[in-house]
Amino acid sequence: MAQAINNWQMDQKADLSEPKAKPKYISTFRALSGYMKEHRLTFAGFIFCTFIAIAAELLQPYLVKIAIDDNLMAGKNDYRSLLLLCGIYFGLSLASFAFAYLQNNLLQNAGQSIVASIRKRLFRHITSQSMSYFDRVPSGSLITHVSSDTEAINQFFNQVVLSLFRDGLTLVFILVLMFNLDAELTLYCLILLPIIAGIAIAFRAYMRTTYQMARTRLSRLVAFVAENLSGMNLIQVFHQQEEQKKQFRERNDSYFRANIREIRTNVLFNRSFEVLNNLAIAFITWLGGKAVLGQTLEFGVLYAFITYIRLFFQPINTITQQWNTLQSATVAINRVWNIFAIEPDIRDRAETKRVNKDDIEGRLDFNRIAFAYPGGSDVIKGLDLHVRQGEMVGIVGTTGAGKSSLISLLCRFYDVREGSILIDGHDIRDLAQRDLHRIVGLVQQEPYLYSGTVLDNVRMFDESVTREEAIRACEFIGADSIFLRMKDGYDTMLSERGSGLSAGERQLISFARIIVFAPKILILDEATANLDSHTEQLVQDALHRVSQGRTTLVIAHRLSTVMGADRILVMSQGQIVEEGTHEQLLQLGGYYEQLYRHSQGMHEAVEAG
Ligand SMILES: Nc1ncnc2c1ncn2[C@@H]1O[C@H](COP(=O)(O)OP(=O)(O)O)[C@@H](O)[C@H]1O
Ligand SMILES: [Mg+2]
Repeated sequence: MAQAINNWQMDQKADLSEPKAKPKYISTFRALSGYMKEHRLTFAGFIFCTFIAIAAELLQPYLVKIAIDDNLMAGKNDYRSLLLLCGIYFGLSLASFAFAYLQNNLLQNAGQSIVASIRKRLFRHITSQSMSYFDRVPSGSLITHVSSDTEAINQFFNQVVLSLFRDGLTLVFILVLMFNLDAELTLYCLILLPIIAGIAIAFRAYMRTTYQMARTRLSRLVAFVAENLSGMNLIQVFHQQEEQKKQFRERNDSYFRANIREIRTNVLFNRSFEVLNNLAIAFITWLGGKAVLGQTLEFGVLYAFITYIRLFFQPINTITQQWNTLQSATVAINRVWNIFAIEPDIRDRAETKRVNKDDIEGRLDFNRIAFAYPGGSDVIKGLDLHVRQGEMVGIVGTTGAGKSSLISLLCRFYDVREGSILIDGHDIRDLAQRDLHRIVGLVQQEPYLYSGTVLDNVRMFDESVTREEAIRACEFIGADSIFLRMKDGYDTMLSERGSGLSAGERQLISFARIIVFAPKILILDEATANLDSHTEQLVQDALHRVSQGRTTLVIAHRLSTVMGADRILVMSQGQIVEEGTHEQLLQLGGYYEQLYRHSQGMHEAVEAG
């Protein structure tokens, strides 16, 4: 847990640093264009609706201009055409509303389904990676990719694409209408355009820094809280609450200040923009008003101009806001596409040997294997081990001896550097991974339980396993009485990762899984380490039954678990240093004998105490 939090924090830090290379905006569009093509009809509909919605909206001031110049100012008492104009005006408002609604819906629909399929592909891609990938990449950063990176891509559609089309089109329409009304006055307005854009861009740059500062401080605060929650017992034991409170206050205050600064900048920008807008209106009123008085401009045209100038500022403001979103979407897309580019280290050969699980007897050969984790030195060194069909082999050794690594190699989470591992004479690299994982069943110290019922967990949500089969498996390992005692028996819902169960009960569920899926080779890695003495006996009995007729490798801390094995190996520094039955190893008087005497001593101490 602490490790996960650490990784997560590291990742947060990594995320906050500015991307080194300049983001490639063109490739962003290109990456998405394949997805967009699938929805081209929807996008065409979106563009069409945008067109109609904007036209309907911007023609409204033009109608008022007609009403003023052709009806009111012309001194005609034509109520009917005035009423008609009002009717059209109302119709245009309705059309603008309806098409804007459609336009939004269409874009959302396309955008959301593109993001959903990217998320799906990303999840599939990540889960298809080899274990070595998860050693390198902290899970926190993968969570970031699946959640916030895809969210950033979502915003690309909802904000960037929407604004570029809607606001860009609005600007073009307004300019066309204004030119149509009065070219000279429009040219004066165009002088304003670069000034407005310049101010907007300068302000945006400043706002980006304040925004980023606030984000940085927030994630520092969140990381601090996460770290505290996970280490709460330590904090309380060492009476660190005061110190932690002080540190929290500092982070909280600094986030508060950054937030206030961000809000202040925002308000300042929006208000200045409004002032600028009003200045422009005053300018046009002055120029246009002079022209109206000089009878070179109609009053209705001036009215329309003033309305259009008002409408002119909003799209510019919105478009300049898209810069941030475009930037974060580009970074997100680059990251996601970089993940897509990673191929799993361990892949099936083009020509795999298909084997039927039932034809496998369970003979195991480790032929002088050597293995090192990426970038490390060898943790398995020329290890040679041959296991007969149905044999039970116990493995003991100090922490870090390489026991779990040996198992990871057999499950092909990693590939050996040298030598080979054979099952019934087949090199495991020639088998399909799907077949291999049916042949080899692994039970770890903390069996993973999913949220679902006890039975769901026994049959791993596999519908082809009947309820009766699953129940029979539980009975076979002798766990039925325990499960039946629970609230809803076999249908008791397990909370998050089975937190309501004892370690032993969780382990029994994973044993029942073994019976249901019946692998030919069974591996237990410290599966009995965390058990209380009551359930240990139960698990021990279950192990005895489960291992019948299966080649079984049992890694154990407690000698009581392996004492009955056909053969016991002692591992040290990636090699087998002692080998034999319990009695033979005791006679040898080596590491195993020491371990045995130590455990006896512990036992007596417990008995005496
Ligand atoms: N995922 C990993 N990445 C790098 N080194 C590892 C990894 N897992 C284990 N190691 C290292 O490999 C060595 C053997 O570890 P392991 O096989 O887990 O030992 P054991 O199970 O006997 O305690 C140790 O030095 C450990 O630090
Ligand atoms: Mg281990």
